[in-house]
Amino acid sequence: MKTRNVLDLTDLTHDELMAVIRLADDIRKKPADYAEVCRGRILATLFYEPSTRTQMSFQTAMLRLGGTIIGFANPQNSSVAKGESLKDTITVVGGYTDIIAIRHPLEGTAAAAAMYSPVPVVNAGDGGHLHPTQTLTDVVTLHNEMGRLDNLTIGLCGDLKNGRTVHSLIKTMSTFKGNRFILISTPELTIPQYIKDIINASECTYKEIPSLADAMPQLDVLYMTRIQRERFSSIEEYNRQHGVFILDKEKLRTAKKNMKILHPLPRVDEIDVEVDYDDRAKYFEQTVYGMYGRMALIMKLLEKGDKKYPARIMPSHPFGCKNPKCITSTEKYLPGIFREAGGDMLICKYCDGRRLI
Ligand code: NCD
Repeated sequence: MKTRNVLDLTDLTHDELMAVIRLADDIRKKPADYAEVCRGRILATLFYEPSTRTQMSFQTAMLRLGGTIIGFANPQNSSVAKGESLKDTITVVGGYTDIIAIRHPLEGTAAAAAMYSPVPVVNAGDGGHLHPTQTLTDVVTLHNEMGRLDNLTIGLCGDLKNGRTVHSLIKTMSTFKGNRFILISTPELTIPQYIKDIINASECTYKEIPSLADAMPQLDVLYMTRIQRERFSSIEEYNRQHGVFILDKEKLRTAKKNMKILHPLPRVDEIDVEVDYDDRAKYFEQTVYGMYGRMALIMKLLEKGDKKYPARIMPSHPFGCKNPKCITSTEKYLPGIFREAGGDMLICKYCDGRRLI
C-alpha cells in the first residue's frame, strides 16, 4: 500500500480501501491463514483518551496476526505526566515499534505525530475531528450487511458536530456514488461546514432535518451516535442536548424491513435496549467486523516494513491555528501549516479549522 499514515480513511485511494475491505473479509473467513503474518512486529497503542473497543480491537487485531503490543491507556503513567512533548514520545516509541495507533483529545494530533514518526501512524480518534478506523469498521459492516457502499440513504443522528465517527464516515461514503445523507440533529449540533463542503464537491447529497421519525421511512442505514459529553464546555449545555433523540421499538415501526442500525458505541441511552433484539440492529456485529478491518489495515501498512524518520516540515504561513482544540494550541513547536481555501480563507492541516489571513 502506498499510503503510509492513516489520519483519515480518505488517505487510502479507492483501490487501497477496497483491497483492505476484501482482505478483512478473507481474514474473517480463514483466520488461520493469517495467524503468523505479523510475527515479530510490534504495535504501540498510545491512548491519551478513554477507549474500550478501539484500543482492544487494535490490540486483538495485532495479536491475532501473531504480532505483539505495547502502549499506555493512561498517559499519566508515562513521561507525558513529566511534561514530555508529543514529538519526543513519538520519536522514541517509533524507534521501538513497527506501527503506532494514537488517540488524543486534541484535534490534529495524529497528523502532528505522523510528522515525527519513523513508522506508520494510525489515527484512533483525534478530539472531535476524525476517526478513520471506526469508518473502516462501518464500511466493512455495510459491505457485508448491505452488499454495497453506493446509492444508500444514510441517516446520521445525534451529535454531528462533535462526533468524529460521523465526520470520517461521511468523508469516505462521499467517495462512493449516489449516497444521500440525512443529517438528523438539533440546530446546536449540526455537522461542521467543511464536511458539508466535501459532500457538495462529491456525487452525493445531504439534507438536514430535526426529526428522526420523519427521516425513518427513507433510510437504508441509520447511524446513531452518542452526545459527546466530554466535548461540551458545561454540563448544563450537555443536559440541553442529551436525550433529544432516542431510538426505540415504536420509532422503528416505520423503518424499512432491511434497514441496518449502526452505532460506533459506547451507547448511553440513545438506543433503547429492546432494539438490540431487532434483526436490523448490527452494532455488536459491527465491533467484530472492525477487528477484521483493523487486522487488514495493519497488514497492509506493514507490507513495506522500512523505518524512515520524516524530513523536517517548514511552516507554510507565519501564524498559527485559532482553534483552541487544535493540537498546535499546546504543542507550540509544531509548524503552522495551512491550505488555501479561496479568498482569504485558510484551513489548518492538523484540525481542518478555518482562519482568515
Ligand atoms: C467512538 C469514539 O471514540 O469516537 N467510539 C469508538 O471509538 N467506537 C464514539 C463515541 O465515543 O461516541
